[in-house]
Amino acid sequence: MQGTAVQQGTGLERIGLTGSALDTFCVDVGASPDYVLDLFNRLIITIAAWKGGVGKTELAKELAWLLDGVLVDLDWDAGGATRAWGYRYETRTNAPLLDALERGRCPRPLSGRGMRADLIPSHPDFAVNQPSGPDMAAALEKWSAELKRPLIIDTHPGGVPSTVGAASAAHVVVVPVNLETRALAATEQMTNELQGGYPLLLVPNRVEAAPEPEVSRLEKISTTYGIEVGPPVHSHAFLKRRKLSGAVCAPGRSGQIPASSARFVAEVKDVARTVLTHAVRNAMAQDQQDEEALL
Ligand SMILES: Nc1ncnc2c1ncn2[C@@H]1O[C@H](COP(=O)(O)OP(=O)(O)O)[C@@H](O)[C@H]1O
Ligand SMILES: [Mg+2]
Repeated sequence: MQGTAVQQGTGLERIGLTGSALDTFCVDVGASPDYVLDLFNRLIITIAAWKGGVGKTELAKELAWLLDGVLVDLDWDAGGATRAWGYRYETRTNAPLLDALERGRCPRPLSGRGMRADLIPSHPDFAVNQPSGPDMAAALEKWSAELKRPLIIDTHPGGVPSTVGAASAAHVVVVPVNLETRALAATEQMTNELQGGYPLLLVPNRVEAAPEPEVSRLEKISTTYGIEVGPPVHSHAFLKRRKLSGAVCAPGRSGQIPASSARFVAEVKDVARTVLTHAVRNAMAQDQQDEEALL
């Protein structure tokens, strides 16, 4: 289908994977271009961390735009992706996330008009109306199959059922990690609780310096639980006060990324390519397991 190809092209183009760069990517990851293209439309990427304020939402909305995917907001708190996107549930007569789950239907994403990712918005009542982990995972898998676009899922902090469900449906679970004592303790607890079966990828975020004790603690978590660490995103002061609803990575009609955000954009694109690498590897490993189970 041409529409699908165009859409897929957009997501890969935004992260610099076209032409020979895509060929090199496929060779490096050990998958055929057809495999990567097919997986791309089925991608489920969950952003999760046991601690709030570590950068889940910031990364989720940028990754969703970069991959030209659908941002699914499973965080019911007011400081989440839905509000930042510009959606106000107070003025709406429906609640797409709750309605879809209740009716067993696939929600129709709201268009971000090219400036921000298309969105399945959250609702405050999701706090008390969230499904069990397995039901959440099944719903996301169904939506993924119907929408045929990458799903990037932002979550509520901690091991609540919807977050664990979204993690279990994902090809990759991106875990933003701040190099700070309490954030690392939360990361360690999360990796301990989710070890085995969840495809975690640690992404250092808001990195100001690389303090030796915190870096070694992250390395220890990585080796103890066999979880890789992705490229870091540094601390970028402009993010904290940003009021615009558009994705930082979206250049808009001018086609220009302001110099002040260029480094952040380059770093997030690097994260996106690493996430895709892990998604392909994890999907291939899963395929192999499925095949072996048949022998
Ligand atoms: N790399 C970064 N540099 C600077 N500030 C950041 C960075 N990532 C996130 N932030 C800021 O930190 C705050 C918390 O980030 P947010 O994405 O809302 O965290 P979470 O979703 O994990 O609660 C926000 O003000 C956000 O803009
Ligand atoms: Mg958040």
